[in-house]
Amino acid sequence: MLRVGVMASGGGTNLQAILDAIDSGAVTNAGVEVVISNNPGAYALERARNRGIQAVCLSPKTFENREAFHEALLKKVDEYDLDLIVLAGFLVTIPAAMIRKYRNRIINIHPSLIPSFCGVGFYGLKVHEAALKRGVKLTGATVHFVDEGMDSGPIILQRAVEVLPGDTPERLQRRVMEEAEWQILPEAIDRIANDRL
Ligand code: GAR
Repeated sequence: MLRVGVMASGGGTNLQAILDAIDSGAVTNAGVEVVISNNPGAYALERARNRGIQAVCLSPKTFENREAFHEALLKKVDEYDLDLIVLAGFLVTIPAAMIRKYRNRIINIHPSLIPSFCGVGFYGLKVHEAALKRGVKLTGATVHFVDEGMDSGPIILQRAVEVLPGDTPERLQRRVMEEAEWQILPEAIDRIANDRL
């Protein structure tokens, strides 16, 4: 059984997709042990509590400096003896020490087809704004391993989504979530849990 920790900063719809996929049997041999957020108001924490899953908030604002926050984050993650850490809309830089310690055991979902619209400054709605501005006809989502760079680790899965006339960043974001993110993130976890990478 793969012990999974999910880290999320916001609404947690990707977390929900993982939990639903575990319930439906689309993901097997995996269980979410803990949800960690940097944001006390993250609805992802509420989703975890509703399911009886440990919900932990570590806000950088409550620490003296970044280093102290990073140390506490790694210590917290270590407590749960995790096999896989899933960044599901976690908008905080992961400590280098955590990347080293959990190499090939941290995955991230990004709302574009990497290498388009990724790297510094590309997160959340900004990604879809940039895609619309550039006028791409296809966008999508990517699940990848996390390395020291920004959205630069090995790609696990990608799914393309068509940009439609009249799309706004919000509409595009929603369609990318529905058609790509909520499908490929659980699928990647299932593959890792069942040695099918
Ligand atoms: C998702 O669209 C995810 O791909 C994105 O944040 C959103 C979180 O939504 N992540 C990034 O942009 C990371 N660079 P959620 O909290 O509803 O899952």
